[in-house]
This record gives sequence, C-alpha cells and structure tokens, in this order.
Amino acid sequence: MTEMLKVVDLHACAGEKEILKGVNLTVNEGETCVLFGPNGSGKSTLMSTIMGYSSIQVTQGQILFKGQDITEMTVDQRAKLGIGMMMQRPPNIFGVKLGDLIRASSPNSEAVLSSAPEFKMQDFLDREVNVGFSGGEIKRSELLQLTAQKPEFILLDEPESGVDLENIDLIGRKVHDLLYDGNCPGRQRHVSSLVITHTGQIMDYIGADRGYVMRNGRIFCSGRPSDLLKEIRENGYGECDSCQQIISL
Ligand SMILES: Nc1ncnc2c1ncn2[C@@H]1O[C@H](COP(=O)(O)OP(=O)(O)OP(=O)(O)O)[C@@H](O)[C@H]1O
Ligand SMILES: [Mg+2]
Repeated sequence: MTEMLKVVDLHACAGEKEILKGVNLTVNEGETCVLFGPNGSGKSTLMSTIMGYSSIQVTQGQILFKGQDITEMTVDQRAKLGIGMMMQRPPNIFGVKLGDLIRASSPNSEAVLSSAPEFKMQDFLDREVNVGFSGGEIKRSELLQLTAQKPEFILLDEPESGVDLENIDLIGRKVHDLLYDGNCPGRQRHVSSLVITHTGQIMDYIGADRGYVMRNGRIFCSGRPSDLLKEIRENGYGECDSCQQIISL
C-alpha cells in the first residue's frame, strides 16, 4: 500500500515550548485516519506542522508526502503538491472576499461558485473571508474552499465542532463528497485524510480505517477507530493501560 503521509519522529516547537515530542504516524493512499486526544495534547499543532505553518518550528524528524521529504517546504508548495487543511480556528482575511479567494484558487471556480448554495454559502461570497462568520459558517466556508482546491490529502481539524445538528449533516455529506469518488462503484475513496474529532460524529459520514490517540505531544496508541472511541468514552484518556492490547488492528 502506498504511503501518502509519513511522519517520522517529529519534534516541533512554538516559540520556546516543545509541543510535538516525537510523533510517528502514517496515512496510506485512500485511507481515512482519525486523531483523538485530550485538549492541548498537540493535535492541531501536528496538523499545522504537516501543512507547514510558520508559527511552528520543526526541530527534529521528517514529514514525507508520497515519499518526498516536505519538511522544509512552504505552505504554498505543500498546497501545490495536493495537501489541504480545514483549520480549527482559521484567521480572518481582511480585504479578501470569499468569492475572489475561490476564483483565485480553482481553475474550475465557476462550477465551485455555482455550488455555493449546497454549502449555504451563496450570501457569503461578497464578504471578507471569515470576518464575522459564525462558527458553523466558518466550517462551511472552509469546506467550500477545500472543494475549490481539490486536495489529494486533506487535514480536517474538528470539522463538526460547534456545528448544529442540521448543519452537521451538510458538513458530513460534503466531507464525504471530498473523500469519495462519486463515480466509483463500491464507494471507493480517492482522497486520503487525517481527521481530528472529539465526538466521532464525522465518522458516521466518512467511515475511518485507523485511529490514533495523541497524548502530550506523542502518538500514544493506534487501532480501530470505533474501539478507540468506545475506550475513550468509557475510560477517558486516563492511563488507558488496556488500550495497547484491545486496539491493535
Ligand atoms: N504559539 C504557542 N505558544 C505557546 N504554546 C502554544 C502555542 N501554540 C500552541 N501552544 C500550546 O500547545 C499545546 C497544544 O496545542 P494544540 O492546539 O495543538 O492542542 P489540541 O490537541 O489541538 O487541543 P484541542 O483539542 O483543545 O484543540 C497547548 O497547550 C497550547 O496552549
Ligand atoms: Mg485543536
């Protein structure tokens, strides 16, 4: 199986603080992996580091994308290679309208813009990106942008968090569309992803092949996502001594 993403012994800091302390993780081609972990364990930092945001400094280790070392590449270069990200808290982009951002990021932008009503985003195209958007509106806007970018590998940081029940269905279906090739029989996935979730709700829409649990800047264990979620629901993140055995794939 081809490795889409391979993170090897990744250490990274924000300023003086070491947040990632030796992360090892693999996502294979066509795989959806979920990342669980308590608040502050380093999940969003890992995604930002994979995407290449400059607020994080890699001090050790490697990030490989389709076998190529991308550790030193800029965000722009990584996006061009086919990596896209839905951030947990994306910044406001003052002076840039959502519609213009989509026109600049997709060769097929007119089709994407005409699909805006499916995302309930038709009234937002003339607004500055994220400025004054509610939590749920930001998620739908990020998904519309990802649809324009059409990445091969998608990082989704808590796509369902803060979204009302009706819009979770919309988000779930649109994430599904991003990951699956609708024309393929057997719902074959053509895009790989790493998805952070606390509730697992998004898994109802996209399925998940493998789960990882992060604690204190390291991958603590991995296994079947539904088993991991059950263990976390029942026992919390605690010491979780038993999970090493119960969740081996
Ligand atoms: N620029 C920074 N300076 C100092 N500490 C930082 C910085 N960025 C992140 N951190 C700290 O790193 C830790 C990990 O943050 P991160 O956002 O990756 O957690 P998380 O696992 O995504 O948590 P959550 O589930 O709450 O989203 C936190 O304690 C956070 O305060
Ligand atoms: Mg986070």
